[in-house]
Amino acid sequence: MPGNHKAAFGTRAVHGGERRQGADRPANTPIYTSTTYGQESAEAMDAVFAGERDGYVYQRYGNPTNAALEIALADLENGQAAVSFASGMAALHAALLACELHSGDVVLCSRDIYGASLGLLAQVLGPLGVDTRLADFTDLAALEAALFEQPHPKVALFEPISNPILKVADVTAISQLAHRAGALVIADSTFASPWLFRPLEYGADIVVHSATKYLSGHGDATGGVVIVNDAKRAANLRLLSKLVGGILGPFEASMIHRGVKTLALRMERQCSNALRLAQFLARLPQVAKVYYSGLPDHPQYALATIQFCSNAYGAMVAFEIADGSRERAFRFMNALKLALPVTTLGDVYTEVSYPPMSSHREWTAGQQARAGITPGTMRVSVGIEHIDDISADFKQALAASAE
Ligand SMILES: Cc1ncc(COP(=O)(O)O)c(C=O)c1O
Repeated sequence: MPGNHKAAFGTRAVHGGERRQGADRPANTPIYTSTTYGQESAEAMDAVFAGERDGYVYQRYGNPTNAALEIALADLENGQAAVSFASGMAALHAALLACELHSGDVVLCSRDIYGASLGLLAQVLGPLGVDTRLADFTDLAALEAALFEQPHPKVALFEPISNPILKVADVTAISQLAHRAGALVIADSTFASPWLFRPLEYGADIVVHSATKYLSGHGDATGGVVIVNDAKRAANLRLLSKLVGGILGPFEASMIHRGVKTLALRMERQCSNALRLAQFLARLPQVAKVYYSGLPDHPQYALATIQFCSNAYGAMVAFEIADGSRERAFRFMNALKLALPVTTLGDVYTEVSYPPMSSHREWTAGQQARAGITPGTMRVSVGIEHIDDISADFKQALAASAE
């Protein structure tokens, strides 16, 4: 790039991390499958082991394919460093451990969060002595009270756009409150992607993504990433990756990196489709309520308008089927002809999931109700198909569900 010009997001997404070394520079970084790497001398290898010299020695410690992806993602999130993992859950686990949680520490977790994230806290970290408290992160007064309750939490964990009913959290206010209480802030920004919103710019300490979703975008690679802007925490994450070993495979790293190149294009199309689908659903008699922060009646419409980039509101839409019941929800899913009734999101395909059956299956009815999940709640990840085809599919499937 000429002079000090900082290229736009979409340009950096295309080129980030690529062509960093060597005389022959392939357009995209090859898939390095080698489990080990030689150096020109034992002294050189010793220096790489010691971190005194750039290079690779062993796949679990890092490899060029993963490094290319990590450089691209750190840049797109405006962070200092990214560490990739084998899945979003492995990334979240590492992010929590990187906060140096010990027995007796407390994590304050949003009530509105992916089901398995709470499962990780309760079922994996709980037995190790880490307590979890829950709060509504969109109610700043309640959040402040929960943060200053004794013992103060060491970590505040939330999703800026929540799974599944798409509440939008005020990341600046949350980060300021959490820091005053002495807590580190982890934002799982999977639903936003760095194209829509970059939590580190708003005060979060750690950003986590399930790279399986928007970053990959094609439903063919599972991975996760943690991004930080602090060198000590980055080193800590790398150590956890080495010692716990949940590394991303180089094939998946390459697939995800390929997906990242079209992130801006895909998000532009998916977000505009999502707004139009949300408006369309709001007019259908079989829909009782639509959750989408781009609709003026959404409780955080004003916040989302300020916080998100590119005049967009995300590509996830949720809604309540009128007279919602499990039977009716199943009839709707079974009647879809174009959208895929599957349990993932962020792909080029439009995907419909039923949170009580999938993402929040392990939660009790009470936990689901407190997070606003009812037997009629449907979650939609809007794809890149033509909006008229998506709308027609929803119209006919909702009509069929009411028969
Ligand atoms: C918001 C969020 N975070 C994390 C995850 C976990 O990601 P993965 O399935 O890649 O482990 C998911 C999965 O659906 C998710 O929706």
